[in-house]
Order: sequence, then structure tokens, then C-alpha cells
Amino acid sequence: MKIIREIPAMKDWVRAVKKKGETICLVPTMGYLHKGHLDLMRMGKPMADHLVISIFVNPTQFGPSEDLDKYPRDLPRDTELAASVGVECIFHPSAEAMYPKGYCTYVEVENISEGLCGASRPGHFRGVATVVTKLFNIIEPDIAIFGEKDYQQLAVLRKMAEDLNMNVQVLAHPTVREDDGLAMSSRNKYLSTEQRQYALVLSQALLKARRLVEQGERSAEAIKAEAVRMIEQTPESTVDYVEIVDPALLKPVERIEGRAVMALAVRVGATRLIDNITLEAS
Ligand code: PAF
Repeated sequence: MKIIREIPAMKDWVRAVKKKGETICLVPTMGYLHKGHLDLMRMGKPMADHLVISIFVNPTQFGPSEDLDKYPRDLPRDTELAASVGVECIFHPSAEAMYPKGYCTYVEVENISEGLCGASRPGHFRGVATVVTKLFNIIEPDIAIFGEKDYQQLAVLRKMAEDLNMNVQVLAHPTVREDDGLAMSSRNKYLSTEQRQYALVLSQALLKARRLVEQGERSAEAIKAEAVRMIEQTPESTVDYVEIVDPALLKPVERIEGRAVMALAVRVGATRLIDNITLEAS
């Protein structure tokens, strides 16, 4: 297992691989790996000659009052976990290397990044799109894999790769959940034992929405109202947003016709959690 911290060294490694005509699969992460990340890596392993992950807590995607400083970090543990699923190389640059003094270039994906999390976290997707572009330029992956839990991030990055004619195939892995339904996230670590129980309301509200659609409900307003009611009844839980959107452009829909995505963000105590589900009206 190679840990590469310097951008020129990473580029040298990539150049040697490409010279042999071999392919690279990249799983970008911010570290503090959990089973969800490892499943993305397992998916990527057979898809290319080399499996690379990046571990970089990207400062440009955090707002001024967000958890950049306390975001969990544990490189020795991450290294062990990554090795256990066959990762060959970890790119782990410093913030100074990625954003040196005088840095001033950003990637903005319009429209699709403006609602949902984009509305409550201004600048977040600009930071994500920028760092992922930089990772793609440094590592030149043939394939990059992202989790569907961050549905909007996936949609933004797919659009970015398409619009900018990037030589990478952006693939999705379904959300990985704990046995009780909680979507896996590095931020679950912040939850107390009680809050961990309250956080189940996210997946429960989404499953309730799916059941309502199965029973014939088509009004997005009615489905969202039920989710809001469930969240507001849960201790320490406040709604950031509950929205039902079309799966491609992420524009809010009024009625469920065909496929739609219900996405929500909920603050449980001080921890902001997100989740989503596909709704299908037959
Ligand atoms: O999903 C994440 O962990 C991050 O947003 C990503 C894609 C690694 C960019 O920093």
C-alpha cells in the first residue's frame, strides 16, 4: 500500500501506469472510512487495473460555521481498512498543496447545485466540483465512484464530467445502510446514543413516503408534510429541508409521476444528516 502526499509524486505514479496502457479507478473520500466507503472500493476493484482512493478533508466545501476542524480523521485506521479491500494507493495531499497561496480557480456547476443542500450550504458544491476536478486532473482516473447517499453531489459531478468533456466515467454505488436503516456517514460518529436512535427518523420518513406513493398518494406536498410531521415529532430533530425532485435536474415536482427522488436534510442535535430515496409511481 502506497501513501502518496505530494502532487508531483502522484502524477509520476499515474504517468507510469498510463505508459503501460493500464486503467485507474478512483474513489474520492474525506477519510474516516466506514463500510459504505469500503463497498465503493469493492465495487471499483475489479473495474480497473489499479484502485486508488483519495483522502482529503477539502476545506473549500465547508462553510465558515461548519465542522472542518472537528471532521474526524484517522489515517492509520483508514490505511488498514483500505488495504483490506485491495486499495493499492492512497493519495493524501495537504491543504497547502491543493490550495497554495494565491489559489483562485473554481468550478461552478449551475442550476443543479443551487437547490437542496446547495441552498443551505452556499459554496459547498463549488468546493466539491473544484476539488474533484483537481483530483481527476492529478489522478486521471478512467472510472470514479461516488455514493448515492450524496445524491445531489453525484448529480453535480456527473453533469460536470459531461459538460467539461472529462475522460472519466462517473459511477454510482447505492446508499449503504446500518441494519436499522441509518445511512452510513462519517458524521454519524458525532451522534450520542440517544441521537443515534432519533436519527432513524430520516430513513423511516423516506420509507413512509415510498409506502404513501405505493398506496396511491401523488401529491408531493402531502408526502413532504408527513415527513416533516415525523421529523418534528422526534426529539432534538429539526428539518433543514424535505424536497421531492426530478432525478436528473433536481427541480421540485408537484406530483409524483414516473420516477422522483425525495431528499432530506435533518439536524439531529448539532449534526446535519442527509438521506434520499427513489419514489416510483407506476
Ligand atoms: O463525498 C465526499 O466525501 C466528498 O464530498 C468528496 C467527493 C470526496 C469531495 O471532497
